[in-house]
Amino acid sequence: MGAIDISGIKKAFSVFDTEPELIYLDSASTALVPRCVSGRVFDYLRYQHANSGRGQYRLAESATRLVRDARSAAARFIGAESADTLAFCSSATEGINMVASGWLSERLKPGQNVVISAAEHHANLLPWQKVCKQASAQLRVVDLNAHGQVDLNHLKALVDDNTVLLAMSQVSNVLGVINDVSAWAAIAHKVGARLLVDASQAVAHVPASVASWACDFYVFSGHKLYAGPGCAVLYVCKAAQTEFKPTRLGGGIVTEVDWQQASFIQGIEVYEAGSPNIAAIVALHAAIDFIDSIGWQKILEHERVLISYLLGKLNSLDFVQPLLSWDISASDVGVGENTKAELPVLISFTCQGLHSHDLASLLNAENIALRAGLHCAQPLHKQLNVSNSSRVSLGLYNNKEDMDLFIKALSRAYELLAVVNEPVGMVNE
Ligand code: ALA
Repeated sequence: MGAIDISGIKKAFSVFDTEPELIYLDSASTALVPRCVSGRVFDYLRYQHANSGRGQYRLAESATRLVRDARSAAARFIGAESADTLAFCSSATEGINMVASGWLSERLKPGQNVVISAAEHHANLLPWQKVCKQASAQLRVVDLNAHGQVDLNHLKALVDDNTVLLAMSQVSNVLGVINDVSAWAAIAHKVGARLLVDASQAVAHVPASVASWACDFYVFSGHKLYAGPGCAVLYVCKAAQTEFKPTRLGGGIVTEVDWQQASFIQGIEVYEAGSPNIAAIVALHAAIDFIDSIGWQKILEHERVLISYLLGKLNSLDFVQPLLSWDISASDVGVGENTKAELPVLISFTCQGLHSHDLASLLNAENIALRAGLHCAQPLHKQLNVSNSSRVSLGLYNNKEDMDLFIKALSRAYELLAVVNEPVGMVNE
């Protein structure tokens, strides 16, 4: 694929052929799929489909190669030391659940603890909650600092010799701020704990370097990276693989099977029992090629310009209350010292007197798609004392015109519907 010009990138996404007016501001939920990705999947299904890892004929060998090449591409993309540290699974949620039941539940003892942050999505909370309850262990929750990042001082205070795991999202799906993963790894490893990073919201916005960050587990889903649904990556460092039991048992992972016992292969594929979702794996590879063809430098610059533009506009609306307040001029790179925050990759806010679901419906009438409610992060909303919020999350296809139209529509919605201090109820998620 040749270099892609980011200013004309909307044309690369076929949904805009049929929905030219669409302003899609829900990329944190799932990113739209470029035609180079859907085209590769279509070609695979039409001309190349066979099962991988199981056949000696040409098509099957080619399918095996597609999976192998995708694994290598994903390993390079996230800065893993080698491809045999990456397991494909169906979703980030599945990857986290695999670690909870195949690794944590095998070792967590009464009195030990797992540490998460106050900004976690339910997917990076409920599996740990369950295992901690079963083991009579503690689930400890680290506070956030004024920038919405994990408070490193509080983290150091919570982590002790009984800590087995730190499980935290690099970027919160509600607050959007970027955390310093290597600082977490240093804190975890000092006491012999392991670090799991949920990179679902980071992978499309922060170039990853899992080996140099010293992550033990790192998980992301392809659909947040322009790949469509069905494939996620669970990185497991070599040392953690020796402690991590496969949770899904079946074909493709054994060396010897008898009625009463079985022995298993060594290596990362032991976590991939059953026929893989090759179409989704091909899509992930194509999405990585798509990102590579644009280049991180252009992506980061595009997102920085757009998000600061949007923050400036939102800050000028007095009925909008962002969940985190942003002084754009003070924002800077450098999260290491936990002092200044990088710009967020998404923004959540409330509107005075306007429930987020009503706002989302009004915006929908103007072809604007955003997420409303609790974003699968109820504890964080409770902690922030907010009953629901609206979230704008950007993708490569967004531009300043989208931001202007969104801000105009938001102002119209407020004029139409807002009832000052109307009590709003909690919705179930
Ligand atoms: N986890 C996704 C979100 O935050 C679905 O919207």
